[in-house]
Amino acid sequence: MLYTKVLGISGSPRKGNSLFLLKEALESAKGVDPDSVHTQLYSIKGKIFNPCIACRNCKDHDGDCVHKDDFEELREFWLDADVIIYSVPVYHMSVPGQLKCFIDRLGNSMSGKFRSKMPEGVYALPKLLKIIGSIAQGIHIFSGQEHTITDLINHTLMMQSIPVAGDMWESYIGAGGWTVNLIDRDGFEKLAKGDDIGVKVAIKASKDLGRRSVELAKIIQSGILASKALLGKDPVYQPVINMLEKRNAV
Ligand SMILES: Cc1cc2nc3c(=O)[nH]c(=O)nc-3n(C[C@H](O)[C@H](O)[C@H](O)COP(=O)(O)O)c2cc1C
Repeated sequence: MLYTKVLGISGSPRKGNSLFLLKEALESAKGVDPDSVHTQLYSIKGKIFNPCIACRNCKDHDGDCVHKDDFEELREFWLDADVIIYSVPVYHMSVPGQLKCFIDRLGNSMSGKFRSKMPEGVYALPKLLKIIGSIAQGIHIFSGQEHTITDLINHTLMMQSIPVAGDMWESYIGAGGWTVNLIDRDGFEKLAKGDDIGVKVAIKASKDLGRRSVELAKIIQSGILASKALLGKDPVYQPVINMLEKRNAV
């Protein structure tokens, strides 16, 4: 049996609508195979992610960041997961600043973090091959959901990972929704009790995204292990091979 770790990150500074959709996605992810799927929910509420100050400390010190805040904890969870599902409120047509600070530092610290694990002269980042799904919701319609998801897909590609969507026709590139002008943190919860079509679509897209992300992770995990002899010749695949072997040997 291949164990699959799913990390759900709620990118809202409050326990609100992003969390509601994330829980739908995580429940559905777990439902694929409760015995082999482990889900973890991480909320950035109350956490501190200072902005990158471009000091290059992480490049020279194995990825170590000069800021001593909540970054390191979330980076470890992130690196240990096979699937990451982001659920974020749209802020000014993109991701909230707190999450962007985490993403900037995560990406920038990768070369330092993996430097010692790469042979001399290899400067490429490792192929992390994580499956990453994105949920974005706002208060209005046509107000940044797709831009936000696209930003997270770009982040996914930069992290040498694989973006995933749910099913057509609710989920073209991720899951998106709006709270029909409700500013309340429980806007989705309230609307879900009625028959608002947009909310039903957002919930279905989130559930599909959760399920499909685990299924794709299982495909990728088995593919990596089955192709180990071939991939292992290229050092960029070694970190993910090591991670899967270590986890599944337990
Ligand atoms: C600083 C800020 C910027 C926002 N910008 C947008 C926006 O560009 N588009 C949008 O639809 N909603 C925007 N919103 C509204 C939130 O995305 C919306 O209320 C969302 O449901 C909040 O999610 P949460 O309950 O998980 O915090 C903004 C809210 C804040 C606080």
